[in-house]
Amino acid sequence: MGFEEQVALVTGSSSGIGAAIAQELAAQGAAVAVHYRGNAAGAEAVQAAITEAGGRCALFQADLTNPDEAANLVKAVTKELGPIDILVNNAGTTRDTLLMTMKEDDWDIVLDTNLKSVYAVSRAAVRGMLKRRKGRIINITSVVGLTGQAGQSNYAASKAGIIGFTKSLAKEIGSRNITVNAIAPGFIPTSLTGVLSDEQHNAIIAQTPLGRMGTPAEIAYAVTFLADERAAFITGQVLSVDGGLAMM
Ligand SMILES: NC(=O)c1ccc[n+]([C@@H]2O[C@H](COP(=O)([O-])OP(=O)(O)OC[C@H]3O[C@@H](n4cnc5c(N)ncnc54)[C@H](OP(=O)(O)O)[C@@H]3O)[C@@H](O)[C@H]2O)c1
Repeated sequence: MGFEEQVALVTGSSSGIGAAIAQELAAQGAAVAVHYRGNAAGAEAVQAAITEAGGRCALFQADLTNPDEAANLVKAVTKELGPIDILVNNAGTTRDTLLMTMKEDDWDIVLDTNLKSVYAVSRAAVRGMLKRRKGRIINITSVVGLTGQAGQSNYAASKAGIIGFTKSLAKEIGSRNITVNAIAPGFIPTSLTGVLSDEQHNAIIAQTPLGRMGTPAEIAYAVTFLADERAAFITGQVLSVDGGLAMM
């Protein structure tokens, strides 16, 4: 079953995991809002790939640390593509450092980008979903939000926050036929993980039962699974897609 007649907004889809999610949803037939903050060239490349493959999409720019820009993004997508059926809150960043050297700015940027954006975009998108009694919200958290990670207390706090948000919102709006779930990726090679040393890279692979890193396409597949009509009875869940790294 595809996603024809559906509109999907994928935040942070100018590169990495978000780009793969946007391309997969478009390949399944959805009209996709490709969102970026600074990487216009990346977003244009995603648009070109979707269009060449026969899919439909449009580009939108917004800094999601600003709730007004988040609200305007939802308005602009709705105006151009139609009401949002599928929201994928994927935009994220890191500012890794030990707590003793973590500046207030390192904390604020990570919390605002990863968590406040999820609140702001969801709040704006949920209004239309409530009226239409239809919607899927999929939040990209992280294995680190489940397990913690030295040097990432800001990132882990933001990702654990997403899990609490996901479960709470799932309880709030389940009666309106809207599901809210999270996906917790393990380590996926993108610009976010490009900073890892060879030693860190090898250590992660050694701890992963499947013995490798994941791919953006494997996260995108999990998104389409949760967005599919047949997943209508799944809500408030955290789906780990991590090669077995953080079995709970
Ligand atoms: N890679 C991994 O191993 C991994 C593991 C677990 C979870 N994740 C999560 O997966 C998501 C995607 O990460 P990725 O690895 O694909 O990294 P990425 O390639 O660096 O993509 C990050 C995306 O977030 C956007 N973004 C950053 N700051 C933003 C802001 N203030 N406002 C709006 N958009 C903003 C970026 O937009 P611009 O570049 O256009 O500015 C980009 O599109 C993140 O939530 C990350 O935490 C990744």
